[in-house]
Order: sequence, then structure tokens, then C-alpha cells
Amino acid sequence: MGISKAKSLISDIAHYRPIMKRGMPTLAAVASQNFRRAACLSVCFALAGNAASQTASIGKYNGPGGCASSSCHGSIQPKQITRVSQNEYSIWAGQDKHARAYQVLSNDVSLRIGRILNLKSPPEQNEKCLACHALAVPAEQRAQTFELNDGVSCESCHGPAAGWLGPHTVKDWENQSPEQKAKLGMIDLRDVAIRSHTCLHCHVGTAEKFVDHQMIAAGHPDLTFELNLFSAVMPRHWKEPRETPWFGAKEWAVGQGMQLRDSLQRLARRARSSTWPEYAELDCIACHHSLTAPKDSWRQEAGYAGRTPGVPAWNAARFVVFRYAAAATDAATASKLDSEVATLTGLMGQLSGDREQIAASAERAAGLAHSLTSELNDRPYDQAFTIQVMRRITADSSLSLLGQRAAEQAAMSLDSLYNVCRQNGAPDSDLQNAIAGLFAQVQNPSAYNAPAFVAQLQKVGAALGRGAGQAGK
Ligand code: HEC
Ligand code: HEC
Ligand code: HEC
Ligand code: HEC
Repeated sequence: MGISKAKSLISDIAHYRPIMKRGMPTLAAVASQNFRRAACLSVCFALAGNAASQTASIGKYNGPGGCASSSCHGSIQPKQITRVSQNEYSIWAGQDKHARAYQVLSNDVSLRIGRILNLKSPPEQNEKCLACHALAVPAEQRAQTFELNDGVSCESCHGPAAGWLGPHTVKDWENQSPEQKAKLGMIDLRDVAIRSHTCLHCHVGTAEKFVDHQMIAAGHPDLTFELNLFSAVMPRHWKEPRETPWFGAKEWAVGQGMQLRDSLQRLARRARSSTWPEYAELDCIACHHSLTAPKDSWRQEAGYAGRTPGVPAWNAARFVVFRYAAAATDAATASKLDSEVATLTGLMGQLSGDREQIAASAERAAGLAHSLTSELNDRPYDQAFTIQVMRRITADSSLSLLGQRAAEQAAMSLDSLYNVCRQNGAPDSDLQNAIAGLFAQVQNPSAYNAPAFVAQLQKVGAALGRGAGQAGK
């Protein structure tokens, strides 16, 4: 249900990158927060109740200033007056990198990207960059209060506010259905499928905005994502639903499925485009690792199952762990997805695989990922599901051979699922340390070593075996 809504709502469709880790949110300068606050108008109550002008402005973007007053969402401390804490603006302005996404476009890395790509205007004025680094909407959709330099702000995720800014401050708002709210322009982010699709607009890309290997080679970080982990890092400015303690497992599972679907659609688009082959769809480290003497090469030792030796493989990172969430939910469809992905992998593993066949297979796989994600969005979550998926990931030594990015997804996923267990029970320091060891294995992508990763994965499995039952009790 949620996914078809997501589809119709939003028109469809290191060195170079530090590994994402859960931890303390970075506390960005409070100064910038004060600066923003000074520039803000507290328009929210002024706008309330003017129904006629509301209708006319549905679909228009106001910018975050209207949310910043301390009586709206700009409180420094969480408040207890309404259902929400009212400090959302302060968290965004002070701790969330999205608030700085526009400023990033004038740093040295961005300027160099602009030079290398021969952009006609500087990144901070260029559509190619603004599309993801700011609330880049057409001029006719901008209200007067709108400022590009607010970066990725409230309405980038919550939808254009002009139509609901007034109505959403009255008591009755909470009784409105998501459909009623959507009519006024508000995106139903409480639906996890819609939520992840919203993030993936920028964290995987769409037909209109994208990060490709040209941009990556020029210095842009590669795009990887994991909804549960990235939400924690953001950090969350919302409360997780208290009535569903295993909600984090849902966030992980639905987020995985959605990113698989969206990235397969991206692959299909690219296979049919004029810029194929697109290296960013392949296993990065297949090309970017350092070489050793033949006797020391784990790649040669493993062989190149299912592909021509020496051809970089399809980047399977968005599939390798999702398959276990899928199998634990709908075994029949999951096994269809497995075999479609095998077909796709085979096509991608030839030096010049047939583009139309690649696109068609990616589309079939995207369809299967879509229906599995829909099921995952509707099913209940509990300890049994969470532990089962963790066990199956740790028992899968073959995922290590699919490359560093796949291994990274396994590490991020085990970390997310462990954190869900910990929220529901006692911490397990053995398990936590073993998972930290997985991150160490993927920290330096060019030096990634599959057998070493497997050895660490087995340690996680062993800790899970000892602690299962404990974790989540
Ligand atoms: C498809 C969306 C998208 C487009 C288009 C895009 N970016 Fe990004 N950019 C991102 C995301 C998402 C990140 C964060 C990646 C991460 O850490 O996972 C990012 C990160 C960056 C960073 C690193 C920021 C930091 O804090 O270190 C720079 C620099 C950057 N982008 C510059 C650019 C420039 C310059 C352009 C235009 C040529 C551009 N971006 C276009 C999505 C995009
Ligand atoms: C990068 C995406 C993103 C941005 C930017 C963003 N939000 Fe959110 N916001 C979310 C998500 C996801 C949720 C969780 C879904 C929900 O509870 O509705 C959420 C929830 C909320 C909630 C509900 C809190 C609760 O406890 O239920 C409020 C209020 C809110 N956001 C306000 C804001 C304001 C104000 C801004 C700008 C200053 C903002 N958001 C910017 C994604 C975003
Ligand atoms: C409109 C585009 C857009 C949307 C929608 C979006 N992001 Fe981002 N996100 C970015 C850009 C651009 C950056 C890089 C900002 C920077 O580094 O300063 C980023 C950075 C991040 C980072 C920091 C990454 C790092 O390397 O530290 C996290 C975490 C993140 N996003 C999570 C989310 C989540 C969760 C959602 C959905 C609820 C979301 N984003 C939605 C564009 C977006
Ligand atoms: C088919 C092989 C191939 C694949 C797959 C590939 N690249 Fe590249 N990449 C190259 C080549 C060739 C260059 C140019 C190197 C040069 O000129 O020295 C390059 C350049 C780069 C550079 C700049 C090099 C430098 O020294 O700073 C980065 C960063 C990069 N790629 C990252 C990635 C990432 C991330 C991925 C996966 C999303 C990826 N590449 C996938 C072949 C590949």
C-alpha cells in the first residue's frame, strides 16, 4: 500500500568516502543556528486559519524560517505541550548535515568537482548540484520567504508547506488521515516505505538528479545508504513509535527493499542511456584495489564465478542482506528475486552484456523487490525475525566475495539490527565488539580482504550464538 502511494506521490522515477558509523551526532556550530534563527520570521500562527489563501498556495514551498519559532519547532529543549517535542528545527539547524548541504557546494572539493566537470556555473548556482543540496524547486513554487541557502530543509522531506502550514497548527490536525494531509502537500513520512523512498531521491538519485562515476571520479562521495543507520546519524528529530518496540527492524527491512527497488530502476535507466556502461553500477573495488603477487590474491583464489574473469561484477550491495528479510517474509517471491538477480548478475558479468536484456532483467527484479517491500511494510516485527536475519547474514560467507560495498552493507545492517535488540534488552559487549570489527574490515576499501571479512563475520555469528536469547530479552 505505502509503496504505491510513494510511487504516485513522488514522480518516479577514502578516502573518497568515510564509512558511516553510529555514534555521537556531530555538534555543528551553534553560531550557524543563531544566525538562522535571527533571519527567521515566526509566521506559523500568523498564517493559521486563512483557508482561502491556503488553497491557493498548496504545493508552494516556504523555506524553514516559518518553522523556527520556539513556539513552533524551534524550542531548544524538548517540550511536553503537544505530541511532538517542538525542538525539531533546533536539531536540524544545530546537528543535521542537511542544514549545511548548500554551504558544502562552495567548499574546495565542490569547486574542484565543478572545474573537473567543466560546469558552466559554480556548483552553488548549478542545477546539477542544487538538485540534491538545496530545496531546488521551480520559481513559481517558491513563496516569498524561500531561501536557497537553507540547504536540505524541512520541506525537502515533509513536502511543500504553504498548503498545510496553517491547518497543521490546529488541534484537529492529528485526526486527519494521511490522505487528507497529502492533499494539502504533506508527505506521509510515518509510512516507512514512503519515508525511505523520500530519502533515496537524493541518496540513490532519480532520472533528474544523479551521482555517476564521472562525478565520483571528480571527487563526489559514492552514494550508499541504510535507512536505520542514516536516520540515527542524521540524527532523528522525531520519536519512534512506542507501541512497536521492534520498529527499528522494520525501518531496516523496508529501507533495504526500497533502496534495492530504486537502485534497480536506476540501473535499468542507465543501461538504456547514452552514458552506458556506468561504472557506478559495478563493484567499485573490483577496479580500485591494489594488486598483490598471484599466490597472495584472494580474488584469484576465489575465481570469478558466473562472470568473465577480470570483468567487474554488478554491485550487489543492495541485495545481499535484503534477501534474508525477504526470505523470512515471503519465501516464494524471495526465491523468484534470487533467480532474477542471478540472471542480472550473469548479464552484468560479461564485458559487453546486452543492454536491453540488462534493463529488462533489472526491471523484473525491481518489480519483485517492490512487492516484497510492500509485504515487509505491512508485516509485524519481533525478536524472532531480527535474530533470524542476523543469523543468516553471519552464516553467509559468500556475500564477502561480492565486494567491499556488499560487506559494508552487511556491517551496517548487523549494527542496525543489534541496536534494535539492545533497545529491547541488555547490551551484549561481545557482539557489539565483533560488529565493530566488521567495520574495521571495510574501513580501507582498496585493502578489502574477503577471507578476513568472513573470519570476522564468523566471530559475530559465534557471539550471536552465545548471546542469542540474551540479545533482545
Ligand atoms: C543525487 C543527489 C546529489 C547530487 C545531484 C549531488 N550531490 Fe553532492 N551529495 C549528495 C549526498 C546524498 C551526499 C552525502 C553522501 C554521504 O555521505 O553518504 C553528498 C555529499 C557531497 C559532498 C561531501 C560533503 C561533505 O560533508 O563532505 C560534496 C562536496 C558534494 N556532495 C558536492 C556536490 C557537487 C559539487 C555536486 C554537483 C556537481 C553535487 N554534490 C551533486 C547528493 C548529491
Ligand atoms: C532529511 C529529511 C527531513 C528533514 C530535512 C526534516 N525532517 Fe522532520 N521528519 C523526517 C522524518 C523521516 C520524520 C519521521 C516521520 C514522522 O514522524 O512523521 C520526521 C518527523 C518530524 C516531526 C514529527 C515528530 C514526531 O515526534 O513525530 C516534526 C514535527 C518534524 N519532522 C519537523 C521538521 C522540521 C520543523 C524540519 C525543518 C527544520 C524538518 N522536520 C526537517 C524527515 C525530515
Ligand atoms: C533533497 C535531498 C536529500 C534528501 C531528501 C535526503 N538527504 Fe540526506 N543528504 C543530502 C545531502 C546533499 C547530504 C550531504 C550534506 C553534507 O554533507 O553537508 C546528505 C547527508 C546525509 C547524512 C550525513 C551523511 C554523512 O556522510 O555524514 C545523513 C545521515 C542523511 N543524509 C540521512 C538522510 C535520511 C535518513 C533521509 C530521509 C529521511 C535523507 N537523508 C534525505 C541530501 C538529501
Ligand atoms: C570498470 C572499472 C571501474 C569501476 C567499476 C569503478 N571505477 Fe572508479 N575509476 C576507474 C578509472 C579507470 C578511473 C580513472 C583513474 C585514473 O585516471 O587514474 C577511476 C577514477 C575514480 C576515482 C578518482 C581516482 C583518484 O585517484 O582519486 C574515484 C574516487 C573512483 N573512481 C571511485 C569509484 C567508486 C566509488 C566506484 C563505485 C561506485 C568506482 N570508482 C567504480 C575505474 C572504475
